[in-house]
Amino acid sequence: MKRGLFITFEGSEGSGKSTHAKRLYNFLKKRGYTVVLLREPGGTRISEAIRKILLDTKNKKMDIKTEALLYLASRAQLVKEKIIPALCEGKTVILDRFQDSTLAYQGYGGGINLEFLKKMGDFATAGLIPDLTFLLDIAPREGLRRSGSSDRMEKKPFSFHQRVRKGYLKLAKKNPQRFFLIEVNRDIDAISEEIQKKVLSLISE
Ligand code: TMP
Repeated sequence: MKRGLFITFEGSEGSGKSTHAKRLYNFLKKRGYTVVLLREPGGTRISEAIRKILLDTKNKKMDIKTEALLYLASRAQLVKEKIIPALCEGKTVILDRFQDSTLAYQGYGGGINLEFLKKMGDFATAGLIPDLTFLLDIAPREGLRRSGSSDRMEKKPFSFHQRVRKGYLKLAKKNPQRFFLIEVNRDIDAISEEIQKKVLSLISE
């Protein structure tokens, strides 16, 4: 059986990526595709428990290394338990955040060495790379206003969020074959249509 398509959504806070991941999921399902929608950190019992620790505003003392390792731990479990089995069954997997989030947030944002994070990422994901990554780009001030800045990550300094955004744009530039950049300050339906068109073109390849 042909391996399923692996699509990820990336972006800074308030970019609307979760909304668009869900919209794409509904679109493909309606057309009869077998699709799985998952999020990171989360998607399994263990990974959702890790998510709670990561986003809890009480965990002010969390070191950036602890943070990076917890995101990777959550990912390793999700890949093993849900993503690889679904792809092997030929299902399309739509994932709200993946390894690029770690590179953008803990790498560009938090200052952890990118090469080291990539190696650790390969360890966590068994080298799994998305077929297509949508990067929803938004200015950090607007994004944080939209998201409401309520969890531990959103409460990080504004300069951190600026580095994350710039990091994402660098990642997209470095991997043009996989990234598809979406400017979000547009009509939401127009964005969905652009995403759908891109995915359908990939499916028919
Ligand atoms: P969410 O708000 O998109 O659900 O993501 C949860 C938060 O976790 C968000 O602030 C981004 C952050 N994050 C990282 O910092 N590194 C990662 O590897 C992942 C997956 C998420």
